[in-house]
Amino acid sequence: MQQAMAALVCIDDFEAYARTHLSKYAFDYFSCGAQEQQTLQDNKDAFKRLRLLPRLMRDVSNRDLSTTILGQRISFPIAISPTAKHCLAHPDGEIATAKAASSMQTGMVISHRSTKRLEDIAVASPEGLKWFQLNIYKDRSLVQHLIQRAEKAGYKGIVVTIDSVVIGKKYSMIRHKKGLPHPYRFENLMEYGFTNEELRSESKSARLKDETLTWRDIDWIKSVTSLPIILKGILTAEDAHNAVLHKADAIIVSNHGGRLLDGVLATIDALPEVVQAVRGSDIEVYLDGGIRKGTDVLKALALGAKAVFVGRPVLWGLATDGEAGVKKVLQILRDEFDIAMALSGCKTLKEITPDLVERRPVISSNL
Ligand SMILES: Cc1cc2nc3c(=O)[nH]c(=O)nc-3n(C[C@H](O)[C@H](O)[C@H](O)COP(=O)(O)O)c2cc1C
Repeated sequence: MQQAMAALVCIDDFEAYARTHLSKYAFDYFSCGAQEQQTLQDNKDAFKRLRLLPRLMRDVSNRDLSTTILGQRISFPIAISPTAKHCLAHPDGEIATAKAASSMQTGMVISHRSTKRLEDIAVASPEGLKWFQLNIYKDRSLVQHLIQRAEKAGYKGIVVTIDSVVIGKKYSMIRHKKGLPHPYRFENLMEYGFTNEELRSESKSARLKDETLTWRDIDWIKSVTSLPIILKGILTAEDAHNAVLHKADAIIVSNHGGRLLDGVLATIDALPEVVQAVRGSDIEVYLDGGIRKGTDVLKALALGAKAVFVGRPVLWGLATDGEAGVKKVLQILRDEFDIAMALSGCKTLKEITPDLVERRPVISSNL
């Protein structure tokens, strides 16, 4: 395995390896986006439409990549987005991912639809910074109980995904017809009276979703926990203002990796407006979607993100070689980001400023 991994030098290599080693169901589930997958592709293309303007001759010998997210130190500004079903990529599932994040000294958001129990993940990686992701479901007592469990297990933040009141339409998953194959289970949800069959099928579990959600429900979440609240899925200034108004602690500019509303803005294109909208408040802004290279991270930070999160790259690493695979993916992104900083004339994250990036007014295949 070590030899095979040595030949994988970038995130796209890991994706190609995962494509040939995962079942078709698993690869399609992890890789797909909604409908025509326009946003899925645009998340990546939009980074390519931005060009870098490096500054030279600045003594970059002593670089510091570390930062904080909501007061917690991470050794570089790339953390892990919540993604469901890690056991479909590797039997060690979220436990392997969390251990890799912890050994790289970065953070991980654990999806409430994980295939290991949130408590077991916490015990397996006691040092690592972990936030817990959930949706506000119809059954508020279930949501509150999940939050209490996450608090007790030592999670340091609650990520509330607010962009998925219904499930996006993913053609390849409809073609597969069946949901998550046995023996994987949504371990966190099993104790609330659902059958695994119910939870495995996206259409059946859609009944958990609450289509009545409004900003008042964020006030409710704030009232039931003292942990910081991170709102995931914001793409506009209007919603960013609302996040500030409702006292969220942070925002993740995200379109769910292009899996929900096809045709929405690429996240890197949405970022400047959100950053501008929250200027003057204490709220932190992060981004996920389409990050595949160190230069993508540099561009996101230049346009105002405090840190970025990655979804699929981690799943490709996990599918390739469990904990070691995730670690290598994080290492590649970290090293590429370090090189990008040095070649742009930056020693610290503070020196990564908007004037490092030029936006080209091209929206076509001519990248
Ligand atoms: C297979 C898969 C499962 C996901 N599951 C969740 C989830 O359970 N909760 C959530 O908030 N976001 C989920 N997401 C969205 C990710 O958190 C993230 O927004 C997205 O993957 C970022 O884009 P990237 O994959 O291009 O890095 C999922 C994404 C993928 C690819």
